[in-house]
Amino acid sequence: MTLHTESTQSTGVYGLPPAELAAPPANAIQLSPLRPGATALETLGEASLDALTMLAPPGTLERRHAMALALKALKPGAPFAVLAPNDKGGTRIAKELKAFGCVTSDTAKRHHRICIGMRPAVLTGVDDALADGGPRFVEALGLWSQPGIFSWDRIDPGSEMLAQHLPALSGRGADFGCGLGYLAHAVLASTGVQALSLVDIDRRAIEAAKRNVADPRVTLRWADLREADESLKALNFVVMNAPFHDGGAEDRSLGQSFIARAAEALRVGGAAWIVANRHLPYEAMLKAKFKRVTTVISQDGYKVFEAVR
Ligand SMILES: C[S@@+](CC[C@H](N)C(=O)[O-])C[C@H]1O[C@@H](n2cnc3c(N)ncnc32)[C@H](O)[C@@H]1O
Repeated sequence: MTLHTESTQSTGVYGLPPAELAAPPANAIQLSPLRPGATALETLGEASLDALTMLAPPGTLERRHAMALALKALKPGAPFAVLAPNDKGGTRIAKELKAFGCVTSDTAKRHHRICIGMRPAVLTGVDDALADGGPRFVEALGLWSQPGIFSWDRIDPGSEMLAQHLPALSGRGADFGCGLGYLAHAVLASTGVQALSLVDIDRRAIEAAKRNVADPRVTLRWADLREADESLKALNFVVMNAPFHDGGAEDRSLGQSFIARAAEALRVGGAAWIVANRHLPYEAMLKAKFKRVTTVISQDGYKVFEAVR
């Protein structure tokens, strides 16, 4: 499915829709917060986009927020295609778009639902969706957050366990996959920490962490840790709650990439403090990449490792 636009027109794509289901033009502007360097949908002017293809995100609040932003950014009458896997919101998108005032034609293909339509002249309910899915201060966490960020409205039990077992850290370090900055708070409580790089692939997480961790020792980077990063080297420590999902699907290689990147970033004698779900097989990789690996605690479905380079 291709939306037809002139080459001079401004076309957006959100995420990476499967090529066999949707084919945005090669010059489409990437708009997903999970693609480092992408344009933020929030920054597009109202009625500025000529067409959009969106692989809608899985969480309801996050998806309605993204669709509402996208519809506001589209010119009235501009074509859009919104698709999602059936088990990740696909069965709901037609109804959600209808509630925004859109008339769509829907197709089911390869376990996805694809909704095609044109941006109506009048949108309904978008302001509620923007408020429900936008950044906010979550009292229960005492932190800024936003639906769509990892564990956006509760502290992840694995992160909590790691925070409880961190020693006093010192020198220069990094928080790989920093999320809201919960672990960074625990790290920065050590007065010996001189510098801390917070890295995450999710722009919304980096923006929340910027508000949550106002400390002159901190630098923030919106980046994909699967890619080499020269700025992360000769570190004294790395902390991480290793992710194992990419786009909703389990991907163990993601956690393994984080471990490999930590081994590269640490100086000899530096330590990685890692929490992982107990079922994930990271021990062999840790032993291959580090001189000494200690399981600090294994409890309630999580393991905390100290791995020394
Ligand atoms: C398990 S969460 C931990 C979040 C945070 N440290 C905490 O304790 O709440 C893993 C984090 O890694 C991020 N992430 C996933 N893949 C990534 C990648 N390739 N590069 C950088 N960050 C990534 C996710 O956005 C998520 O915030």
